[in-house]
Amino acid sequence: MTSGPDATGSDPVARAEELRSLIAHHNDLYHRLDTPQIADAEFDALVRELRSIEADHPDLAVPGSPTSAVGAAPSPLFAPVAHRVPMMSLDNAFSPEELQAWADRLAKQVAADTAFVCELKIDGLAISLTYRDGIFVQAATRGDGRTGEDVTANVATIAAVPSHLLPEAGTPPAIIEVRGEVYMPISAFEDLNRRQAEAGERLFVNPRNSAAGSLRQKDPSVTATRALSFWAYQVGELQGAPGGSRVGSDVDGGSSGRRNRDAGDGAALPDELTTDQSGTMDWMGRAGFPVNPERQVLHGLEEVLAFCSRWEVRRHDLDYEIDGVVVKVDDLALQRRLGSTSRAPRWAIAYKFPPEERSTELADIEVSIGRTGKATPFAVLKPVFVGGSTVSLATLHNEDQVRAKDVRPGDTVMVRKAGDVIPEVVGPVLVAGRPRPRAWKFPALCPVCEGPLVRLPGESDTFCTNLDCPGQRVQRIAHFASRSALDIEGLGEQRVQLLVDKGLLVDVADLYSFTPATFEGLEGFGPLSIANLLGAIDESRSKPLSRVLIGLGIRHLGQVGSLALARARGDLDAVISADEESLAAVEGVGPVIASSVVHWFASDVNRSVTERLGAAGVNMVEPGVDLIGGSAAVAQTLAGRSVVVSGTLEGFTREEAEGAILARGGKSPSTVSKKTYAVVVGVSPGASKVAKAEQLGVPMVDGAGFASLLETGELPAPG
Ligand code: IVH
Repeated sequence: MTSGPDATGSDPVARAEELRSLIAHHNDLYHRLDTPQIADAEFDALVRELRSIEADHPDLAVPGSPTSAVGAAPSPLFAPVAHRVPMMSLDNAFSPEELQAWADRLAKQVAADTAFVCELKIDGLAISLTYRDGIFVQAATRGDGRTGEDVTANVATIAAVPSHLLPEAGTPPAIIEVRGEVYMPISAFEDLNRRQAEAGERLFVNPRNSAAGSLRQKDPSVTATRALSFWAYQVGELQGAPGGSRVGSDVDGGSSGRRNRDAGDGAALPDELTTDQSGTMDWMGRAGFPVNPERQVLHGLEEVLAFCSRWEVRRHDLDYEIDGVVVKVDDLALQRRLGSTSRAPRWAIAYKFPPEERSTELADIEVSIGRTGKATPFAVLKPVFVGGSTVSLATLHNEDQVRAKDVRPGDTVMVRKAGDVIPEVVGPVLVAGRPRPRAWKFPALCPVCEGPLVRLPGESDTFCTNLDCPGQRVQRIAHFASRSALDIEGLGEQRVQLLVDKGLLVDVADLYSFTPATFEGLEGFGPLSIANLLGAIDESRSKPLSRVLIGLGIRHLGQVGSLALARARGDLDAVISADEESLAAVEGVGPVIASSVVHWFASDVNRSVTERLGAAGVNMVEPGVDLIGGSAAVAQTLAGRSVVVSGTLEGFTREEAEGAILARGGKSPSTVSKKTYAVVVGVSPGASKVAKAEQLGVPMVDGAGFASLLETGELPAPG
């Protein structure tokens, strides 16, 4: 095939050249400088495009093309280390179909029941560790695959890297090179960024970059402070036991990098190291290396795909980041037969998960006004598809966060959306030599009412203090109508805004005097939608007191506190007449909420709103609460027990789950400790909570276990 313009009309020669220089540039930024400017998925897309041009125009596939290169040239900051067995990269599959295509290619050479090892693809940086006669002597980065960087002193500070092989693994080989991934646990990354923020230092973008930056330090004492860890997943160079002949060192540029034990004079290499990948992993575990426990030997693509999709869902259960699954042919002899291309083995493939990070343009930073007057800066983004949805807005929380992230309108920024977690602007993508846009300044005036915005000393939040601010009013009313409060369907923020703008709605009590005539001539209100809305308003009259308390929007009083208060006092009058001390004594309330509640009801304006709500027939009683001596009689199955909830549970909002624990006499703190009775693990739980529970041996229960826990207070039997 010749290299004329392709189907898209662009010149493939020019595009291939452009792609090559882009790829080389981003490779260097990622591998050598640890400052990527594009997300991994965007880099992968460039390589794929180039590979497809080279496939269509073989005359363009020049030697040395980045499609056949690995990593980046080593930095002159570190002494070079030649890899006697090249450190290769992996080919990627971005869909089940691509994985199938790989398996189909293999099927021509391997039996149908071939065993595969599926391992998690750790998102860290590849490292090679050399042990001579069982003693750690050298660590090197991958570099360009042939020459890496000597980072021995830095790696020696990582506690998870053994200084010598354990005797449980038998007589140590004369030389063994263990390869694996250095990574930073998510909890350590979050701690590190917390410390960086406190010190006013720039935040790290993600655990991988902070691991790479921490490892490739000129001063190993900096590495030592960085809580790095390690998973072993491969053996590189291998030579026989001391005194025996050399049996394994092999630079065939091809397969697993190892030969089977050749006869020689029978050096005592453990069978496991020369037979299969799964045995190699077991041996490395016995020798003292951390090997990831989630690996599995599987047969057939169906099992492999099930493993991949299971981990795609569960990836956030871990305290380390993974970006896919590595599928390897288990049998080492078969690996050698299959061999490799110039950059990657044919016996393995990386099944990549959909990207959770993307770069995009930060068009602007705006400020929204919440129902309490809190002014929250948020990023207006050029829409970007990331983590399974299109993101165009992302909160920036407060003024300090904007400063710590140092994001400026006009910047290219990295956006991250992990699982069900809300999207986050991670930080700017800086390009050396390119001038930055001007830093953003928090506005002095409320964007809605133009009243002053005030930030009190020692506080991180800024507020619009004008209680009549229409921005606050709209938010207060929309909150009252929201699902977690009075649940008035058909009354979203936009409609509230319209009704407030028209002067038809000043406070929440006005809702209950609405008639069909209220909406006359209003755009978007047909007869059916008016009837539905009035019906929903009428229905809201019978919601329990706890929902009304949520809807009033009393500062600090969330769903848990509202439920606790409603259950403890039974009706609104009993809440209003209680003194601060007795409210504070209610489990799940405490002094801060109690003081806020007392202040709220002390205001004549607020009292008049609640009186008008009562007069309009809004229920002010918590049903199902038998008050005995002023406190609720719900079976106290969790009395004195601490149950932590993590992730989303079917049938409960987070607050409802916590409320259910409180109502049964339990506590529901946000952190796991030795005293925690159980951790309830829903969908997308916090990795650090799960890791902590595992570490402390705290029992974990799922949604079904939670239901029985509430009912009986007992933990499900293990197994
Ligand atoms: S095996 C011939 N196993 O992914 C290369 N690699 O994108 C054999 N990685 O360079 C590598 N987890 O840095 C292997 N369980 C795992 C891995 C893994 C992460 C990294 C490794 C490799 C990169 C390729």
